[in-house]
Amino acid sequence: MPVRTNNCGELRDEHVGQTVSLAGWVNSYRDHGGVIFIDLRDREGVTQIVFHPEHAQAHAAADKLRNEDVVWVEGQCVGRESGMANPKLVTGQIEVQATRVEVLNKTQAPPFTPDEAGRVGEEVRLKYRYIDLRRPRMVHILKARHRVTKIMRDYFDEHGFYEVETPFLCKSTPEGARDFLVPSRLQPGEFYALPQSPQLFKQILMAGGIERYVQIVRCFRDEDPRADRQAEFTQLDLEMSFVEAQDVMALIEGLVRRVWSEVLEVEVGDIPRMSYNEAISRFGTDRPDTRFGMELIDLGDIAGKTDFGVFKGALGLASGDGTVKGICVPGGGTMTRKETDGLADWAKGFGAKGLAVTKVAGPDKLETGIAKFLAPVAGELIERMGAKQGDLLCFGADRSKIVHRVLGELRIKMARERDLIEEGQWRWLWVVDFPAVEWNEDQKRWDSLHHPFTAPCSEDMELLETDPAAVRSQAYDIILNGSELGGGSIRIHQSEVQMQVFKLLGIDESAARAKFGFLLDALKHGAPPHGGIALGLDRIMMHLVGTNNIRDVIAFPKTQNGADLMTEAPSLVDDAQLRELHLRLALPPKPAVVVGTG
Ligand code: AMO
Ligand code: AMP
Repeated sequence: MPVRTNNCGELRDEHVGQTVSLAGWVNSYRDHGGVIFIDLRDREGVTQIVFHPEHAQAHAAADKLRNEDVVWVEGQCVGRESGMANPKLVTGQIEVQATRVEVLNKTQAPPFTPDEAGRVGEEVRLKYRYIDLRRPRMVHILKARHRVTKIMRDYFDEHGFYEVETPFLCKSTPEGARDFLVPSRLQPGEFYALPQSPQLFKQILMAGGIERYVQIVRCFRDEDPRADRQAEFTQLDLEMSFVEAQDVMALIEGLVRRVWSEVLEVEVGDIPRMSYNEAISRFGTDRPDTRFGMELIDLGDIAGKTDFGVFKGALGLASGDGTVKGICVPGGGTMTRKETDGLADWAKGFGAKGLAVTKVAGPDKLETGIAKFLAPVAGELIERMGAKQGDLLCFGADRSKIVHRVLGELRIKMARERDLIEEGQWRWLWVVDFPAVEWNEDQKRWDSLHHPFTAPCSEDMELLETDPAAVRSQAYDIILNGSELGGGSIRIHQSEVQMQVFKLLGIDESAARAKFGFLLDALKHGAPPHGGIALGLDRIMMHLVGTNNIRDVIAFPKTQNGADLMTEAPSLVDDAQLRELHLRLALPPKPAVVVGTG
């Protein structure tokens, strides 16, 4: 490989006159009547190379170059003639007049070039990810990701943390998702689970006296990938001994302050806190997007004065948790009947029975939708909802859980569709005072809101047996612009308390021993008080580089159905491999191909 003196983003006026050599990919090729121009690209940028016919070897070689060929070029760095400078390129003041060229690898016609990536589907980009990665945008993202993890590692090093690796071949940890399983060859019929998080190992590290642990670690959850979710994703995971919730929260505030300031030059101030109940009541969700208003407004008292059957039905529910709430969509009065009917159908997808709407036609005048039922309370309703002429009022009436869910989702949907979110805001929030458990109506049991190792608030301990729903936990979630960046808690560090919580969750003594015996033992053998948190690194990167697509921030992501289109994983394996693992496939019958009957 011949020597390379500079990279393609480096040459400026001050290099004029030097003999330089560059290597990279042919980004574009132009033949201007005998003089050939190429833009040569490497990781750092693009430099224009000129081939004059008098340098015969170089010119002849250049004549055969095609996009994405890999070449080495030697030549003179010269200033561009006045008027020929390219202000869009940082190297636009200069060009390199080639005297020698070596083709390092001739390419086949590429399925697309990095410049064309915007015009091909994401599937093609993922199949040929190496071409996609050559795009400056992707290089920028991977470089930013590298910088962010470096800042994180430095920060935690300064704060006395040790980075410790925890196993990937594990016993399953319950974070609520399905496990990926790995069959054991040496113990036929037994399986490892890939970790959904290092939760139990980091707690055991605290029992082991490590005091401060951090890890940038891959986690695996066999759930359907979504815009902000991958089956294989990365956490910034940490745990500390002898701390309280505010210590962990203060440490994370310091971290995000440093990352945002170093990467974006954005100052993060004190992060406000909001209780879970307040978040649900005002925003319908435990990860409120506080960049805009449109809050949920309780209308129970006003609704009670109407004769609208839907409102009356909700308020009279035998369960006693019927609620009527509303949101006011600014300017939503322009929506058509078809559009508002569409909202009612959409709401049904969240378990609602419908979505009542009406429009504000004056200070105490409502029109269309359920206006006629609301006439006696129109003025009061409009005032309570802070509505103006031209606004759309949407109502949910049902069990409070359903009302909050539907209106919380509707609030986000309306804000996005109607462009009500001012760009460029960074709204941080800690959500705290979560309930420890919630009733699972389908399974008729209590489920943890976070995980079973989260410590209940000490002042609520006696309620564990009498009124579990009222027990708060020492958990905290960090939210940015309505996305959950991370969550953590102070943990249970005493085995009797852990066993009490397991029992509440319907895990009896023998099941607890079988699954978590090692944890219960560790808690008995001198575990210090401890707590921690995990942040989603991929989600942090999405915010920092400004994308809604988690695949953009992962070098080799998976598609919606969990496939790696480049390597074609997952794939079938040899019978011999299955035999070695004592596995036999019992696949469901393939659906019959229906041939038209016509
Ligand atoms: P939790 O399950 O809340 O907590 O996960 C922590 C953070 O990880 C990110 N995250 C994901 N990112 C991308 N794709 C996914 N499928 C995905 N799932 C989670 C989120 C989330 O906030 N062991 C606990 C943490 C603790 O208690 O310390 C845990 O894993 O940003
Ligand atoms: P109905 O009385 O079922 O014809 O519904 C009248 C209006 O109220 C329609 O616009 C429905 O979409 C809406 N609606 C029905 N049930 C609910 C509910 N539980 N909450 C809010 N709106 C509802």
